[in-house]
Amino acid sequence: MVREYNNHMKITFDSISENEKFARIVVGAFVARMNPTMEELSDIKTAVSEAVTNCIIHAYENQVKQIEIEGIICKNVLFLRIIDYGKGIENVEQAMQPMFTTGAKEERSGMGFSFMEAFMDRLNVISHPGKGTVIEMERELGKDREF
Ligand SMILES: Nc1ncnc2c1ncn2[C@@H]1O[C@H](COP(=O)(O)OP(=O)(O)O)[C@@H](O)[C@H]1O
Ligand SMILES: [Mg+2]
Repeated sequence: MVREYNNHMKITFDSISENEKFARIVVGAFVARMNPTMEELSDIKTAVSEAVTNCIIHAYENQVKQIEIEGIICKNVLFLRIIDYGKGIENVEQAMQPMFTTGAKEERSGMGFSFMEAFMDRLNVISHPGKGTVIEMERELGKDREF
């Protein structure tokens, strides 16, 4: 019988751009035990990068505050939460539209949420203006592999 693999982690780090890479690496290391394919790993890291970048640029507007990532592995499913205590999103539905951005048009593509949606199985955005935002993402890994 294959033992079920479960794990839980939570990290807090500063909202500086160097930590986009740090967050990708930490989440990559966390999922390593699930034996992800290169594509799965790349998808997950891209989704994490997009969410963390949004905390740095939009939530905290380049002020140095705290970002949290919580990860849960439950058998072959990865759950991630990216949490900030920044400015929040007034209209989540609008923010999630492809190409919608409140940033400078030359710099921002407005595709961050679209990538997160495309690369993960499920995306949920909970936001309270003035309080912060929680991005919940879920991805099931290789259905026919053993864990
Ligand atoms: N964590 C966040 N806090 C506040 N606003 C956010 C956050 N994440 C996203 N947003 C808002 O949603 C918009 C769309 O985000 P996204 O799809 O990643 O595009 P982009 O980052 O290129 O603007 C952003 O322009 C911003 O207004
Ligand atoms: Mg973005």
